[in-house]
Amino acid sequence: MEIQMWREILDPYYLAVDELTVKFNHIIREHRNFDRYSPIEQVIGRVKSITSILEKVQKKNIAMEELEERIDDIAGIRIICQFVEDIDKVVSIIRNRKDMRIKSEKDYITNMKPSGYRSYHIIIYYEVNTINGPKELKAELQIRTLAMNFWATIEHSLQYKYKGNMPSHIRGRLSNASEAIIVLDEEMSSVRDEIMDAQNSFQIKDNIVSDILNNIQNLYKVANKREVMKIQDEFYRIYSKEDLEALAHFSKQLDIISQGYRAQSMIYT
Ligand code: GTP
Ligand code: MG
Repeated sequence: MEIQMWREILDPYYLAVDELTVKFNHIIREHRNFDRYSPIEQVIGRVKSITSILEKVQKKNIAMEELEERIDDIAGIRIICQFVEDIDKVVSIIRNRKDMRIKSEKDYITNMKPSGYRSYHIIIYYEVNTINGPKELKAELQIRTLAMNFWATIEHSLQYKYKGNMPSHIRGRLSNASEAIIVLDEEMSSVRDEIMDAQNSFQIKDNIVSDILNNIQNLYKVANKREVMKIQDEFYRIYSKEDLEALAHFSKQLDIISQGYRAQSMIYT
């Protein structure tokens, strides 16, 4: 196939991967901005390389004309979660969206593959708009925990190295590792609440501190410098006490002071 043809086929998939990556990353941001625990930890998107497409075409005897119809993962999005429980949340978020339509789902977590592979797969239909008009294409979403991702990444490299002839002792090791990953995910789930609490209070503190610093920065423009310095010293004093409530209280007071200045500056302009 000509190079130009590949570009025409693949370009919309690049757009889809870019858009989907932005959308799933935005879900992380929305949760964090509202001090909520995000079920998504990380998002990775990729368009299948021409080499990998050609390998699949050969392996599955696919004609070039039916390439887009037969290959579901030209656009691929990997959604990484911290805990197994988060995967269900992500799946329900996807099911409720209006901008993607589900074609099929595969639950390799309940039904682990013989290799030891575990992940939740969803194939979606997704519409992109190009200079040639709208186009509906497919994308594969792989949802898995950090631990499952670790295993799948290593196993994939070994598969690639041995090209289908993986020695049985290595297969065995991978199988053991897969069992260990299940135990690891279970152990992590058992401390999930504690981890979520710790991460949440960090997020809350982080948001309060950036509000405070924003306010102080703005005060420098309108208030007396010595007064702002005093406020800043007070901030450092409270911050070092490691008391979240005191920090929140200080932030509220600072909001009131800032509002006062804003009101004043409105009167004078
Ligand atoms: P392909 O395997 O992609 O040709 O299509 P399929 O219809 O068999 O889909 P399947 O759900 O089996 O696999 C889809 C994708 O999941 C693969 O392209 C891989 O990225 C991943 N995957 C499936 N099985 C394994 C596995 O045993 N190991 C690893 N590392 N990844 C896997
Ligand atoms: Mg397969």
